[in-house]
Amino acid sequence: MMNKVSVVGAGNVGATIGLLLAQKEIADVVLLDVVEGIPQGKALDMMEAAPLQGYNSAITGTQDYRDTAGSDIVVVTAGLARKPGMSREDLLVKNKEIIESVVEQVRAHSPGSIIILVTNPLDIMTYLAWKVSGFEPKKVLGQAGVLDSSRFRCFIAMELGVSVEDVSAMVLGGHGDSMVPLPRYTTVSGITITELLPADAIERIVQRTRKAGGEIVAHLKTGSAYYSPAAATVEMVEAILKDKKRIMPVSACLTGEYGLDDIYIGVPVILGKGGVEKIIELKLTGDELAALQKSAAIYKEKIQNLGI
Ligand code: NAI
Ligand code: 2OP
Repeated sequence: MMNKVSVVGAGNVGATIGLLLAQKEIADVVLLDVVEGIPQGKALDMMEAAPLQGYNSAITGTQDYRDTAGSDIVVVTAGLARKPGMSREDLLVKNKEIIESVVEQVRAHSPGSIIILVTNPLDIMTYLAWKVSGFEPKKVLGQAGVLDSSRFRCFIAMELGVSVEDVSAMVLGGHGDSMVPLPRYTTVSGITITELLPADAIERIVQRTRKAGGEIVAHLKTGSAYYSPAAATVEMVEAILKDKKRIMPVSACLTGEYGLDDIYIGVPVILGKGGVEKIIELKLTGDELAALQKSAAIYKEKIQNLGI
């Protein structure tokens, strides 16, 4: 029997996740959205592409959470997306209401699921989802670091003129300007980029990575990135459903690791069937650790201000 993945929010990111999951045939997909007809229409369109693309996943669209019942994973992309001039944090108040209502439904209909948050501001919404769900912390996680690392990898490959396949990168911290790309843990076929690129080039790429979401918003004008965020989310879904035990940076609940507690922030974890099966504590330098803790402090304050 196919796994079942429900995607709440069938907009740009959600629908792209649905299509990629179906193309990989790793799950049957339920798209749910508040807007009548949108998930139904997109799901039917994807089903009509199946004979051409040769996938057998079932894709359905709905407004009714009963259709999502018993999901293995629920991906939450519901909410507002960034427009030019908006930070991820500007989305805070509106998306808080949406996430609360969505997660209550997920808890009721898929109590055994793993929830992957995508909605921004990511680390705060993931913390909120964890609180509202009452799920074990390892079963609620957020997608950010896989995307931010992919952007870092992309820019390094472009700079060096090498294949993206050989670039491996690690970006920790919150999904915002305070994110913490780690050049010391970023390699090209095992060679640390600090050996391959001068410091000023690395710094330029780090800054571009921090601003990469905004760079796309500035181009698109009516919304934010969705191909790469969807691809990043699908990597996480696949790691969980196939119990791959992959090491990826995700927004995870910290209970003392890195000197941080009661916070969701991007750290490397082992992802498998249980969700976040282990948080890996890197031996960070003083500066790296300070940057991670500073990033966490920004989100902790916002969470406290929101009264979550
Ligand atoms: P979008 O506007 O294309 O889609 C959002 C969808 O959510 C819409 O179809 C809307 O009708 C739906 N929605 C709103 N309220 C809902 C509710 N209560 N229940 C169900 N559906 C609801 O936006 P897009 O581009 O898909 O982005 C979605 C979210 O993901 C945004 O918050 C965005 O900032 C975030 N995002 C996060 C990324 C990350 O790396 N974590 C990367 C890209 C986007
Ligand atoms: C991004 O990084 C807006 O979070 C979204 O593209």
